[in-house]
Amino acid sequence: MTIVLGINAYHANASAALLLDGELVAAAEEERFTRVKYEVGFPHLAIRYCLHAAGIGPGEVDHIAVAGNPFANIGRKLWFAVGTRAGRHMAPTRGDLVALLRTKRTMAQGLGMDPGALRAKVHFVEHHRAHMASAFYSSPFDRAAVASLDGVGDMVSAMWGVGEGSRLSPRGEVNFPHSLGWFYMGFTQYLGFNKYGDEYKVMGLSAYGEPEFLEDMRDVVRTNRGMGYELNMEYFRHLREIQPLSWRSGAPFQPPVWDRGMVRRFGPVRAGPDEPVEDRHRNVAASMQRRLEEVVLHLLSELRRRTAQDALCLAGGVALNCVANGKVRRETGFRELFVQPAAYDGGTSLGAAQYVAHNVLGRPRTYVMEHAYVGPRYDQPACRRAMEDAGVEYRALAEHEVLGCTADALAEGRIIGWFQGRMEFGPRALGNRSILADPRRPEMKAILNARIKHREPFRPFAPSILESATGEYFEDSYPSPFMLLAYDVRKSKRDEIPAPTHVDGTGRLQTVRRDQNPRYHDLIAAFGRKTGVPVLLNTSFNENEPICCSPAEAVNTFRRTRMDVLVLGDLYAEKRESPGP
Ligand SMILES: [Fe+2]
Repeated sequence: MTIVLGINAYHANASAALLLDGELVAAAEEERFTRVKYEVGFPHLAIRYCLHAAGIGPGEVDHIAVAGNPFANIGRKLWFAVGTRAGRHMAPTRGDLVALLRTKRTMAQGLGMDPGALRAKVHFVEHHRAHMASAFYSSPFDRAAVASLDGVGDMVSAMWGVGEGSRLSPRGEVNFPHSLGWFYMGFTQYLGFNKYGDEYKVMGLSAYGEPEFLEDMRDVVRTNRGMGYELNMEYFRHLREIQPLSWRSGAPFQPPVWDRGMVRRFGPVRAGPDEPVEDRHRNVAASMQRRLEEVVLHLLSELRRRTAQDALCLAGGVALNCVANGKVRRETGFRELFVQPAAYDGGTSLGAAQYVAHNVLGRPRTYVMEHAYVGPRYDQPACRRAMEDAGVEYRALAEHEVLGCTADALAEGRIIGWFQGRMEFGPRALGNRSILADPRRPEMKAILNARIKHREPFRPFAPSILESATGEYFEDSYPSPFMLLAYDVRKSKRDEIPAPTHVDGTGRLQTVRRDQNPRYHDLIAAFGRKTGVPVLLNTSFNENEPICCSPAEAVNTFRRTRMDVLVLGDLYAEKRESPGP
C-alpha cells in the first residue's frame, strides 16, 4: 500500500488530505479544528485527524506532498523580491518558509514525535499544479482540459493544460502581478469588504446592480486573442507597495491592493462594512462580476479550441465563482464540467497528494470524487455526551422518525440544525453540517438573517434539490453536487421557491443523489412528498465562524442562536419557546 499525505501550509486555508493507494480517505481544513476562519499556519490538527481517521501512524506515511514549491519560478521570485518596491517588503527571511523547507521537522513537532521516525519522502508541488491535480484526478474524466484560475501561488495566477490518464501536462500560465483573483479582491476591498475571503459577498451584491461600468472594467483587465490577461496597474498598487499576506493568530489579512486610479475612475472608496451600500457600489460590483465572466469565458473558450477536449476540470479561488461556472457549459463549448469542491487553497493539499500519487509515482487512477464527506465523523455516544454536557433535552429516534419529524418541522417553518455523518471538505455545507429551512416561504431569508446568520441582506441562500427534479426547477439540469454552479430558476417556479432564489432569478444549487448522501436525499424526498417541493434551503451550520465540526460546536450554536430544532445524528432536540419572527 502507498500512503501519501498532502499538506497545504502557510497559505490560506491550511489543510491536510490522505490518500491510500490513490483513494482519498480523509481531508479537512485546519480552521475547522482551531476555529480560526481561513487559518493559515501549519495544519497540525488536520494532519492528526487524517492519520487517526485512517488508523495510520505517522511513521507509515510513504510520501508527504507539500502544496507550493519554494523553488518554482525562483528567477521571478528573486526578481520580484529584489527588483520591485513591493518585493523589498517581502525580502526578509520568513519563518514560515524555513518551517516549510523543514516540513518533516515541523510536522514531527506538532505530533510530539522524533523527526527521525518520519521516513516519508517530501515532495514540493507547484501551487497551480496542485490546484489542477485536485480537479483532474478527482474528476470522472479520463481525458480533459484542466484550468486553475486563481489569485496567486508560486508567482503565477492561472495555469491550464491537459490531463490524460495519470498524466497532467501544463500548457500555459499567467504570471503575477496579473491576476483575476486579485482583480476581484481589489474591487472587493474597494467596496468596503475588507476581510480576507469576502469576495463571495460581492458576487451576491453584483446581482442587485447594473453593469454601468463594464467598458471601464475592460480597461482594468485586458485580454487579447490569446489565452492571457493583463491588469492595468494604474488601478492596483501590488507591484509597488503591497505587503504579503500576513496572519494574526492564524487568520489571514491582506492589505489593500486597489490604487488611486480606481478612485479616479469609479469614485470614492466605501470605507468599510458599516458604510451604506449605494447604487454606485452595486453597479461597480455588477460591472466587475460581468467582466470576470467575460474574461473567464473567453479563456475557457480558447482552451476548448486549443485542446479540443469535451470535458473541463476547474479549481483555484476564481473557480468558486458559481455565477461564472454556471455559464461555462453554455458559452465555451465544453460539454462536461467538474469543479472540485475545495477549489480554493484548502484543496491544494488533496491536489499535491494526487499529483505525487499519479504524475510522479505513475499510479493508475481509480478514485472519483462522488462526494465531499471526508471530514470527521462522531458516533452516537459522542453526540449524546455533547447534548448532556450542555444540558439539552433530546429524544433518540429511529431512522424513519428522524426524517419524518424533521420534514414536518421544516414544513411548519422551523429552522433546523442538521448535523450528520462526516464533515464536508471545502467551503460549502452540503447536507452534513447544514442549517435547513423551508424554501417556499419568502420571509425565510430575513428570518434566518435576523435569528441566526446576521449577515448582509443582499447575500443569497442556496437550494438543495433532488437531482432528478433539477430540470423541473432550473433552466439547466447538469448536476451541481458541490453547490458551485448557479442556474436560472425557471420563471414558473420562482414563486414556489422564493427563499433561495436570488434577486436576479438564479439559484446556487446543490443537486443531491441518493448514492452521494442517502440520509440528506431521503430528507429532501420526505419534504417533497409532504409539500410537493423536493427542495430545501441549505446554509452552512455556523454563525460567522468556521463551519461546525464537532457535536459540541453544533450544540453550542443551537443554544446561542434562535434555531428551533437540532438533529445530531438520530438525536432530536427542540426549543420549547415560541420562535417568533
Ligand atoms: Fe490558490
